[in-house]
Amino acid sequence: MQVLENFPLKDLNTFGVAANARYYAAFDSIASLNDILSKYPGLPLLILGGGSNVLLTKDFDGLVLKNDIRGIRKVSEDAEFVYVKAGAGENWHQFVLYTIEHGWGGLENLSLIPGCVGASPMQNIGAYGVEIKDLFEQLTAFHLNERSNYTFRAQACEFGYRESVFKRKYKGQFVIADVTFKLRKQPVLNTSYGAIASELKARGIEHPTIRDVSDVVISIRQSKLPDPKETGNAGSFFKNPSITIPQFDELKKKYPDMVAYLNPDGTMKLAAGWLIEQAGWKGYREGDAGVHARQALVLVNHGHATGAEIVALSEKVISSIKEKFGVELEREVNIV
Ligand code: FAD
Ligand code: EPU
Repeated sequence: MQVLENFPLKDLNTFGVAANARYYAAFDSIASLNDILSKYPGLPLLILGGGSNVLLTKDFDGLVLKNDIRGIRKVSEDAEFVYVKAGAGENWHQFVLYTIEHGWGGLENLSLIPGCVGASPMQNIGAYGVEIKDLFEQLTAFHLNERSNYTFRAQACEFGYRESVFKRKYKGQFVIADVTFKLRKQPVLNTSYGAIASELKARGIEHPTIRDVSDVVISIRQSKLPDPKETGNAGSFFKNPSITIPQFDELKKKYPDMVAYLNPDGTMKLAAGWLIEQAGWKGYREGDAGVHARQALVLVNHGHATGAEIVALSEKVISSIKEKFGVELEREVNIV
């Protein structure tokens, strides 16, 4: 595996931010990763998949490692489920399409999420009423210091809303090599998310297949979210914040149209996009850093914004939401 010096990362992050890596290498197996680590010991490391959930704020003075471990295969099955393992470097959406082609149900609501399979457990990716924890069987992760492989079952991953152990207590310690999903042979559809149900109705589809659900999710996403090929972004920049019911009741008196959902734990999840839009940020632009005009939860790079400029804009948004609603926004994107 070739290790390159002063490598430009602009095309490897969907924000399209310019930054260089002191060293860069791609690896397609744990053996080749091990090899690189032995030749370049002791450097700060950054693992990259599709670069669709990172914001680079400066040059990376270390070794950037692009995960290119490929391969998809059915590892086992029983009467109800197939267990499908995918290499971390597989493109997420292509993998979802592969499962749909085989008639295996579960991942269709997660169509068109950018990035690679290996990053999907990092923040337990989710969309349209489904999170990967619902379909997750296990993953293989390589411990960078110990240089050995571990198997993580769902409980050990401590999945939460856009959370896992890999984003928190084991941050930077493991490289995810492959992920195994448990998919249904007889799909059970989840069309509870309002926009899916209404789009299926608009298309006159009464008995949808997993392909129909995937197609509808793709078109909803394309209508709202900016395509990174045209406008740099990393999807939702912030998480949707949760507050207590008494806090929510107070806010609701002042803002009767406030959008919120009841969490299973009895707290209320607020739509951060709604809060940011109400605070007047939608479509706002400061140089090339901006707030998307169709989805206020998405910060965008209109061309040549730096990571630092996007972080600075996010700080202004955070303080404005705190001031107007008394609610603390937390970033979802990984700042590097
Ligand atoms: P990267 O950005 O490359 O990496 C993300 C983090 O994971 C980094 O900290 C990186 O170091 C680490 N990492 C990556 N791969 C590995 C690995 N193999 N082992 C260990 N660490 C690793 N997310 C959602 O949850 N739901 C959405 O609906 C959604 N929509 C999006 C829409 C758009 C337009 C965009 C641009 C992004 C969206 N995202 C969404 C965010 C993003 O697509 C996901 O978080 C995705 O899983 C990131 O994958 P990636 O391969 O690009 O990860
Ligand atoms: N809204 C506004 N103004 C806006 C944006 C949204 O009022 O500018 C309102 C919408 O009208 C709607 C509510 O907020 O009533 C929720 O909006 P939407 O359905 O677009 O979803 P979201 O909460 O903004 C979340 C995820 C997305 C995921 C979608 C679909 C988070 C942080 N984001 O967005 O995930 O695709 O739901 O399930 O949870 C991501 O994580 O990067 C991501 C894109």
